[in-house]
Amino acid sequence: MDSGITGRPRLAVAPTGGGVGAEVRGLDLRRIDDADFAAILRAWHEHAVLLFRGQTLSDADLVAFSRRFGGLDLAPVQESGRRSVDGLPEIYVVSNVVENGAPIGSLGAGEAVWHTDMSYLPEPPKASLLYALEIPPTGGDTSFVNMYAALDRLDPELRRRIAGRRVKHDGTYNSGGYVRQGVVPTGDPRTAPGALHPIICRHPESGREMLYLGRRRNAYIEGLDLADSGALLDAVWAGMDDPAIGYRHRWRPGDLVLWDNRCTMHRRDAFDPSSRRVMHRTQVQGAAPPSAA
Ligand code: SIN
Repeated sequence: MDSGITGRPRLAVAPTGGGVGAEVRGLDLRRIDDADFAAILRAWHEHAVLLFRGQTLSDADLVAFSRRFGGLDLAPVQESGRRSVDGLPEIYVVSNVVENGAPIGSLGAGEAVWHTDMSYLPEPPKASLLYALEIPPTGGDTSFVNMYAALDRLDPELRRRIAGRRVKHDGTYNSGGYVRQGVVPTGDPRTAPGALHPIICRHPESGREMLYLGRRRNAYIEGLDLADSGALLDAVWAGMDDPAIGYRHRWRPGDLVLWDNRCTMHRRDAFDPSSRRVMHRTQVQGAAPPSAA
């Protein structure tokens, strides 16, 4: 079935039914041609989060598919100090598994709070691709929220109060709450490392306005005193868990999820630390810093 937007008879795009995302069916991502890729790009721009089930990708296949979207970032150093997969510096391992006394990946088995990947950088990645190798029997779901919708339904007075302002995207802690390598932790968001970005941005491809929040911990709205900044941020963050603007993904091994890192945020549920969860992630470089609406 063709959803109508793909123009490719073997490829179907089925919206998740939630507030963001769609499943793309009918493709083996190791064997796509330029027309397939053009259809994927159109679907991605329309739905922001795309799911491809039943894939059998090697790390090299994952890197090759990811490169179609642009140059890849090198994986950030894991909180244990280890860097990525041997020979493939673009692959970041998200895992709770410990081998020979050392974690093979990042983020452990706890909750990973709402965030945008690496928005503490001046030019954050535009896309992330996460491929599921091993999945626990329960828990570890990943949720996404649509940041166009989060802005659209913001109270107009709240929107007026944040318009034209910039927010500090903290680089101290990752989404699992671990301190990043080489950073001295501070509880003062004004002095914490990180980039300032407009709190309302315009998406460079869709042209639509969206909220751009990064993560809540150690965030700070430039020019306000700490208490006012905290209260305003709490109000803006209040509606993120609403399924009406989101999608919760229950993983199966072989799932690849691609998300637009500019107009979505994501979080991960905790899971039983005695089970195994192994995911490989790549990130596509952003073309420019997030820009004001
Ligand atoms: C991530 O935040 O990039 C990882 C999300 C997940 O493990 O599901």
